[in-house]
Amino acid sequence: MKILGIETSCDETAAAVVEDGTRILSNVIASQVDIHSRYGGVVPEVASRQHLLAALPIIRQAMSGASAGWDDVDAIAVTIGPGLAGSLLVGVNMAKAMALARGLPFIGVNHLEAHIYANWLEGEQPRFPVLCLIVSGGHTDLILMKDHGDYQILGKTRDDAAGEAFDKVARILALGYPGGPAIEQAALDGDGSRHPLPRAWLKGTDDFSFSGLKTAALHLVQENEGIAAADVAASFQESVVDVLVAKTVDAATRLRARQVLLCGGVASNQALRRAMTERSPVPVHVPTPLLCTDNAAMTASCGYFRLQAGEASGWDLDVEPNLRLA
Ligand code: KG4
Ligand code: ZN
Repeated sequence: MKILGIETSCDETAAAVVEDGTRILSNVIASQVDIHSRYGGVVPEVASRQHLLAALPIIRQAMSGASAGWDDVDAIAVTIGPGLAGSLLVGVNMAKAMALARGLPFIGVNHLEAHIYANWLEGEQPRFPVLCLIVSGGHTDLILMKDHGDYQILGKTRDDAAGEAFDKVARILALGYPGGPAIEQAALDGDGSRHPLPRAWLKGTDDFSFSGLKTAALHLVQENEGIAAADVAASFQESVVDVLVAKTVDAATRLRARQVLLCGGVASNQALRRAMTERSPVPVHVPTPLLCTDNAAMTASCGYFRLQAGEASGWDLDVEPNLRLA
């Protein structure tokens, strides 16, 4: 079964063709990062208009990259949320128009659930129960997944998401946007032990908090003129990674998960990938960096497993900017 996936939840216009939810035939991503970096963050109005310009060419590219004609596509999967309403609307309307023109089934997909399914696109299939850590620009969620579609949210961030903290600290250090890759790069030349930063453990819960760490980094920079950005970046990254790994490992052990699945943009961070793999008592599955950040292959994979479960969307499908997982 070949599924065309469409993803326009934030600032990446993406389309992909995936077979049986696991084999990527094509995966095309048009990033708007150059446009938004001028403003230091995503401008929603600009993002939706860029999606409108990019969507059709990107879908065409995904189809030709998969050597697929419309007769080869069995269904369409499209992100309905969470995300920016105007951006989501572009993808959903594209999907509906194509489904109408070709008489194809279509399914609206939760973007967070799709991030988890990036782990089904490479290597061995995960074995349930798995512990998922979603770390993206908008979310930091620890989730026990017992089966396809069966999610138990264990904990989440009480303030900033991990990716958001990376972006904000990068701004404090004038490292540019997006902040995650910039901090990771700067940290390579830094010494994290020179200015230790705090860790919010929130003991007895599986929740996270990163705003105190962000504020501590701000004070450190404000009170130490000429401080090396690389050292602050390294110290900040060590704090985030330490908390993410320790809390994930604790939950995985406690709940006897068979595997840990990492996903979301922050999961492309090499320090996090390394530390999680070293410290986890059970095997860790992490998608290649390109599948950690926003893409439509994960949307198509998620859509496949939803359709397999007998679900499909109707013409009343709407965007859900604040959609949750469970
Ligand atoms: O999953 P994603 O592409 O989009 C959302 O759904 O939010 O995640 C984007 C977030 C941004 O905050 C970005 O700074 C962060 O992921 N990110 C990283 C890295 N690459 C992207 N954070 C840390 N290290 C990275 N290498
Ligand atoms: Zn995302």
